Amino acid sequence: MLRFETAGESHGECLVATLTGLPAGIPISLDAINRELWRRQQGYGRGGRMKIETDRVEIVAGVRHSQTIGSPIAIIIQNKDWKNWTETLPVEDIDGAEDKKKPVTRPRPGHADLAGSIKYNFPDARYILERASARETTARVAVGALAKTFLSQFGIGVLSHVIGVGSVRLERQTSWEELVSLSEKEEVLLGCVDDEIEKRMKEVVDQAYRTGDTVGGVFEVVAHGAPVGLGSHITWDSRLDGRLAQAIVSMQAVKGVEVGFAAEGAASFGSRVQDTIHYNREERRFTRGANRAGGLEGGMTNGQDVLVRGLLKPISTLRRPLESVDLGTREPALAAYERSDVCVVPAAGVIGEAMVAIVLAQAFLEKFGGDSLGEARRNFEGYREQVRNF
Ligand SMILES: Cc1cc2nc3c(=O)[nH]c(=O)nc-3n(C[C@H](O)[C@H](O)[C@H](O)COP(=O)(O)O)c2cc1C
Repeated sequence: MLRFETAGESHGECLVATLTGLPAGIPISLDAINRELWRRQQGYGRGGRMKIETDRVEIVAGVRHSQTIGSPIAIIIQNKDWKNWTETLPVEDIDGAEDKKKPVTRPRPGHADLAGSIKYNFPDARYILERASARETTARVAVGALAKTFLSQFGIGVLSHVIGVGSVRLERQTSWEELVSLSEKEEVLLGCVDDEIEKRMKEVVDQAYRTGDTVGGVFEVVAHGAPVGLGSHITWDSRLDGRLAQAIVSMQAVKGVEVGFAAEGAASFGSRVQDTIHYNREERRFTRGANRAGGLEGGMTNGQDVLVRGLLKPISTLRRPLESVDLGTREPALAAYERSDVCVVPAAGVIGEAMVAIVLAQAFLEKFGGDSLGEARRNFEGYREQVRNF
């Protein structure tokens, strides 16, 4: 079973992750992981924090001589901002600590601040926001980079693009090749494959900047090359669509998920929604009339691209803050403001890629198993042979 955990606070020493269950013998490149961390930090609309951090991964267990050895992989990513917070968030209490704390007593609507303070019984929201922050997703992206590396051994790629910022929407379909060139860009604006639409998206972000507001949007993750039959129809918790939905909605600020063209389908007749089935005799394989199902039918991959979209609410911290209440005085007060992003949809796409890659790698290993890459490959090839002869 492939499983991972993360630890770390937004302004703590570092972020930590462990990943257990990857087979031995997978070639690992730190550059490839760092490239994913860099991609998570890009996009027009990010706040000052991303200028401080240049994330770099350290692997301290589970990888030797550039390959996995089958044992748990332990990852560390240092927080450069920690040097500014050593007296605010020390592990051991220090003299005069009370004066150094940066309490957040005016909870921000849309954040974990209020519910978390009440639940964990803290007089202010500092410890809550430290962990609720999306800084945690840095660790997820590092783990996702390992999952992607694993999947790439079997010809499976996972990428994303932005299809909506505010009310501006990309209406056309994209090809896998377009997503590959998008992912190779050295400058990221809003992660949209269409320059004209991207310009209009930028105008929306500019408007949010001008008015002290924030803006959300929609990203789409595409998994290309997945074999037919990952996940299963047999139980509620083995359905891959449900597992992907949980992984995407577990992301900070993601409030909705769409598999394929779900929203459009819900507003259409069935005859226009289902993907017709055909057979190519020369190539001896089934083909489909379209991919509106997003590559998933009955909770299983069907051999088409897997398409999963995440709907991101606008960032909750506003430069022009919303009404709140001071936790100490219980008097009305404007919500706290701490340096913040204005739009994070492209970054969310990269995090979405990581989550999809992790879930696909889990489903892959459940189906094919293998303690070493060679064993997993043999099992996979045996299944491919079965599918070819079906
Ligand atoms: C990549 C990314 C960056 C984010 N940056 C910020 C930020 O700078 N300020 C902020 O208030 N919220 C930010 N958020 C959103 C919050 O993390 C999120 O809204 C918060 O944890 C509340 O959780 P919920 O929205 O999932 O309920 C970010 C989210 C993502 C995905």
